[in-house]
Amino acid sequence: MIVSMIVAYGKNWEIGLNNQMLWHISEDFKNFKTITSGHHLLMGRKTFESIGKPLPNRTSLVLSNGDFEHEGVHSFNDIHEALNFARQRGEEELFIIGGATIYKTLFDYVDKMYLSEVDYSGEADAYLEEIDFSTWDLAQQKDYEAIIEDGKIKSPAWKFKVWVKRD
Ligand SMILES: NC(=O)c1ccc[n+]([C@@H]2O[C@H](COP(=O)([O-])OP(=O)(O)OC[C@H]3O[C@@H](n4cnc5c(N)ncnc54)[C@H](OP(=O)(O)O)[C@@H]3O)[C@@H](O)[C@H]2O)c1
Repeated sequence: MIVSMIVAYGKNWEIGLNNQMLWHISEDFKNFKTITSGHHLLMGRKTFESIGKPLPNRTSLVLSNGDFEHEGVHSFNDIHEALNFARQRGEEELFIIGGATIYKTLFDYVDKMYLSEVDYSGEADAYLEEIDFSTWDLAQQKDYEAIIEDGKIKSPAWKFKVWVKRD
């Protein structure tokens, strides 16, 4: 099983504010759905609460140090138990979907990264740790333009990149 991480971040590595996303990029959401469908998703309790429900066509694994329970999700107190659960169910690619604490804690386990670099800077209270790309190979890149409506940015420009850890 490979461990992948999928995240969208701003120019200052910002990823969230008040347990919400900082932008709405519908193409990025579609992309997220396509990439993660059929897979096990591993997330922190706060990210699950921000989403509010298990995502369809995927298996949600939620990490909490408490006794968190929610219909339709599998909860774990321990990272290794969660990873083993997915492995034992035959998962080939597990996705870490956040948030900040989980990306940081699990970064050393990550084999592949699906990154959306968003042309945004602003207030945030959740950040991704700066990534050193020197040990990663860029496997894929696609650039997206901003969507402007009535002279305002409806959706910022972003670059989608896939990185694979060098052996
Ligand atoms: N831009 C993006 O792509 C993206 C993606 C996802 C999330 N986000 C943003 O990220 C922010 C949330 O990040 P966050 O760091 O505050 O919360 P989080 O990582 O989603 O969840 C943190 C919680 O996970 C549990 N946890 C963390 N490490 C654990 C461990 N080793 N073992 C067991 N449980 C563990 C704890 O739950 P308990 O408190 O229950 O013990 C902890 O409070 C939000 O703003 C959200 O919108 C952004």
